[in-house]
Amino acid sequence: MSICLRVSFFPVFASLIFACSEGGKTFPLIEQKCGKCHTASIVYQKNRTEDDWKRVIHGMKMRGLVLTKQEEQDVMKVLTENFLLKN
Ligand code: HEC
Repeated sequence: MSICLRVSFFPVFASLIFACSEGGKTFPLIEQKCGKCHTASIVYQKNRTEDDWKRVIHGMKMRGLVLTKQEEQDVMKVLTENFLLKN
């Protein structure tokens, strides 16, 4: 996010700005909770069904992710509102 803002001052990076504003939407909660072991961007790459996301979260917990019930609900909300595979 901050990189996107910074480069936007330089016209030279016009294409980068475009890339940022088009596909570069990030979510603070995801950055914070899911960006520790891998880049948070892998979370944004693929749309999944709600069940798939539940399975992913479960898998991440097995790998050491710690979430409170509330945080888990908030994460699921972001994922299902923005990265839901519609079938
Ligand atoms: C404790 C470390 C850790 C945290 C925190 C973590 N992950 Fe992961 N995640 C991993 C590891 C390790 C892999 C890759 C290895 C694998 O897939 O077995 C991975 C892979 C993934 C993948 C790709 C795997 C696939 O099945 O396509 C997704 C999507 C993912 N994580 C989502 C998340 C989300 C969403 C969060 C936050 C809620 C999160 N991760 C937090 C450890 C973590």
